[in-house]
Amino acid sequence: MSQRRLSIFGSTGSIGTSTLALVDAAPERFTIECLVAGGNYSLLAEQALKYRPRVVGLRDETGLAALQTALAGSGIELVSGQRDCDALARIPVDIVIAGITGLAGLGSVMAAVEAGQTLALANKESLVSAGRIVMQAARENGARILPLDSEHNAIFQCWAGWQSHHPELRMPTSDGLQEISHICLTASGGPFRTMALTDFPAITPAQAVKHPNWSMGQKISVDSATMMNKGLEVIEAAWLFGLESDAIEVLVHPQVAIHGLVYFRDGSVIGQMGTTDMKTPISYALEWPNRLIWDPEPLDLVTLGRLDFYAVDDSRYPCFALAKQALKVGGVMPAVLNAANEVAVTAFLADRISFPAISALVNDVMQRGPVGSDASLDEVMAVDEATRMFAGEIVENLAEKYAE
Ligand SMILES: NC(=O)c1ccc[n+]([C@@H]2O[C@H](COP(=O)([O-])OP(=O)(O)OC[C@H]3O[C@@H](n4cnc5c(N)ncnc54)[C@H](OP(=O)(O)O)[C@@H]3O)[C@@H](O)[C@H]2O)c1
Repeated sequence: MSQRRLSIFGSTGSIGTSTLALVDAAPERFTIECLVAGGNYSLLAEQALKYRPRVVGLRDETGLAALQTALAGSGIELVSGQRDCDALARIPVDIVIAGITGLAGLGSVMAAVEAGQTLALANKESLVSAGRIVMQAARENGARILPLDSEHNAIFQCWAGWQSHHPELRMPTSDGLQEISHICLTASGGPFRTMALTDFPAITPAQAVKHPNWSMGQKISVDSATMMNKGLEVIEAAWLFGLESDAIEVLVHPQVAIHGLVYFRDGSVIGQMGTTDMKTPISYALEWPNRLIWDPEPLDLVTLGRLDFYAVDDSRYPCFALAKQALKVGGVMPAVLNAANEVAVTAFLADRISFPAISALVNDVMQRGPVGSDASLDEVMAVDEATRMFAGEIVENLAEKYAE
């Protein structure tokens, strides 16, 4: 098998470093074309000197001089600024890893799909806010999207077995959906699954980013604590798999051993199990349609002992209910939800608003915030920008009260 050439967007983050750990585990399988990061120029320099990409991209211009010095004489090309970094996703490679956090990842996702690349997608926010546009561009340009999110990757794996009987389908599509009744995404319930609701106002950012099962970046960890993450994943699944919201069930499963299930109309249910190591779903995308041989921790079922499942309690997780509502409303409402949530999570992590204020703010913005259309990328971006401004004003008011 020939080596696969990778470009990694968000190489310094949790998804990016897990991908590079797999490159370390199977160096004969992969070479690196591009590494792109936001501001962590010292780690980017370290990665560049180790993996020898043809080009690196740094979004923040502030670290540029130091990165130039570190890479002097290496022959590695260097670009900076959002636009030039995003454009690197057009360079033909075997797989583009979309591991940037937040809607900041949309530019590189769009560049990759417009160039007809195979995209391993972790950046769910781009599908939440601009799902119609991203999926349409993927179809028009023959791009393939392989889901990296563990639950979607699980559905993809379950679906793949079924798809082997439908070789005409290149990726999960709504074609042939009549054989599938629905899917189920599991959720850990996050660090506050059993905490008294009366204690929620005192939750600190340090507590919220300490996930009981997964090791992830700060934003997604807070999203997991509020369960906005699962709501974003429901919207992501609707776009990826062409499903109506009613066909996407979510269950709290604290052991997080089953990541996703597909319910077929003949009564069969196929699920995917694994440990909570993102390297497993990433490895499936990197070597798809085969499997990468590496050395993961095995799933120990005897130690696990039991599997529990619960329905989601909307009063504990109002953000999850808001995301489902946004999907039902459709149009730009998911983009409004996402932008408001990004502003709220940033404010919470900066200790400016309380944990319960995250859902209150998102709700407020969804009720009173900007409206618009999701027909074009420009329109979605205009709504995104207006929502961030509106949400920012609410944060100022809430922050004043919170500081009192
Ligand atoms: N972590 C997980 O286990 C996991 C699981 C499923 C899905 N996801 C999804 O994957 C995405 C990444 O999550 P993460 O946990 O890996 O986040 P993370 O650890 O915070 O890493 C984010 C990465 O994006 C880079 N970045 C941020 N803004 C950028 C910009 N404007 N331009 C270029 N690079 C930028 C960061 O660079 P610097 O650090 O250099 O600033 C960093 O490399 C999110 O959408 C998340 O929902 C993550």
